[in-house]
Amino acid sequence: MLPIKMNPEEQFKKIISHCKEYGFIFPSSEIYEGLAAVYDYGQNGVELKNNLRTYWWKSMIQMHQNIVGIDASIFMHPKTWKASGHVDGFSDPMIDNKDSKKRYRADQLLEDHQDKIRAKIEKELDKAAKRFGDSFNKELYSETNPKIVSYNETIEIIDDTLKKGLETGDLGLIKQLIEELEIVCPVSGSKNWTDVRQFNLMYSTQMTATDGESELYLRPETAQGIFVNFLNVQKSGRMKIPFGIAQTGKAFRNEIVARQFIMRMKEFEQMEMQFFVRPGEELKYYEYWKAIRLNWHLAMGTATDKYRFHDHVKLAHYANAAVDIEYHFPFGFKEVEGIHSRTNFDLSRHQEFSGKKMQYFDTELNENYIPYVIETSIGLDRIFLVQLFENLIEETLENGETRTVFKIHPALAPFKVAILPLLKKDGLPEFAQKIYNELKYDFQCFYEEKDTIGKRYRRQDAIGTPFCVTIDYDSLENMDVTLRYRDSMEQKRIKVSELQDIISQQVSWKSILNKIEE
Ligand code: GAP
Repeated sequence: MLPIKMNPEEQFKKIISHCKEYGFIFPSSEIYEGLAAVYDYGQNGVELKNNLRTYWWKSMIQMHQNIVGIDASIFMHPKTWKASGHVDGFSDPMIDNKDSKKRYRADQLLEDHQDKIRAKIEKELDKAAKRFGDSFNKELYSETNPKIVSYNETIEIIDDTLKKGLETGDLGLIKQLIEELEIVCPVSGSKNWTDVRQFNLMYSTQMTATDGESELYLRPETAQGIFVNFLNVQKSGRMKIPFGIAQTGKAFRNEIVARQFIMRMKEFEQMEMQFFVRPGEELKYYEYWKAIRLNWHLAMGTATDKYRFHDHVKLAHYANAAVDIEYHFPFGFKEVEGIHSRTNFDLSRHQEFSGKKMQYFDTELNENYIPYVIETSIGLDRIFLVQLFENLIEETLENGETRTVFKIHPALAPFKVAILPLLKKDGLPEFAQKIYNELKYDFQCFYEEKDTIGKRYRRQDAIGTPFCVTIDYDSLENMDVTLRYRDSMEQKRIKVSELQDIISQQVSWKSILNKIEE
């Protein structure tokens, strides 16, 4: 069986339509023409999303004696966001095209331009490789071919100008570069641009109280809910450093140019963990969490070369190390998770703004200090998208037919087993219902009677159900069933009494969690 090759754009379209057709993801309020960059998870999507969240939660809390969870509110005191730096610094540089009236992120316009240049470099290299055959030296050619050298220089100029413009706040530099590179609006095709301006990404709303109205923000990250509860958890849980606090939940960002389906949304879900350590020990734990978090991704069955670490070149002023874990999407390596050594910045700022001590008394050192923090921060929707790109496969079978199969790790699959009576008569549905009623306590089961068995198998393949159990006339006499495996399509005759054990072995949380430690 061979996976069918597709280009990135086709693959993206296929994934979006698959998500809609099979109840994974729908555009939000679609009957009103949807809402840009906002999505709803359907009946299969919510199961997969819950499983991914559970996998993360267990890997953090169940697997670590010194990590606990919380569920903080989305609304927080407005001073929180002043202290965290979001009110003053959480913004994107935006530019408008005067003809199309469309708004763009200026940095993304330039980054897209870089991607186009990189594609041109690849084309040049492909052409040269064909021309020179076996004697082709790619590195030497890249360093000496004038066209490629000039392309690479432009890429570098863009990086440098963006860095300088954003660091110094001189946004005129960024506009000037957009004009010099003759970047046009993708909609109007014109170069008629406004100045570049910073737009804050936080959504605000009003809260009415007896003493009037106050402006509140929808949280743009879950992390601050952890920082402000640091002492509550430490004291009530008698936690000793090093320890972690984890939480999952919605975050909101006014992403003006939200792109690529659930990759960049305005309302999304984060899974974050803050690990509190002694000052001076943070880089040791930073390395520890880098390794653990990469293993978490790989344990889902992804090949090692699909992930890479990408160190932040420009560190935020409060961080002393930061790295992204990037997944190789068909459109390039993109961030799915960030690991940041945030020093004691957040706790210190909350101490300053609230006037409350954020210190920990270390009994071993006999010393008070504000702990340092290692943060791991992953987007649940983004890791959902990774699962689709990684595991949604079109196969050509030996008989020439094709099937779409979602080869997600069995522990994460929306449904673990489908119970399928071969026919809708002669006691087969009743027998199948009995099996369903037995298995439903341990596994998310699917029951279906309609359509031919072949069609039903294909539907289960498409939503990733690792096992199908088919009940036929022999089942009634011998108490056995046909067990079909999703990936190999192998079918085995087994006793009804064996089902529980066989399914458990493959879908248990242990089968995935123990790989993180390997
Ligand atoms: N507390 C740190 C923090 O929020 P971040 O890099 O801004 O860091 C962490 O976000 C993760 O959240 C990202 O790696 C990404 O997976 C996810 N994320 C961020 N913005 C997102 C968006 N607009 N839509 C979907 N996921 C997003």
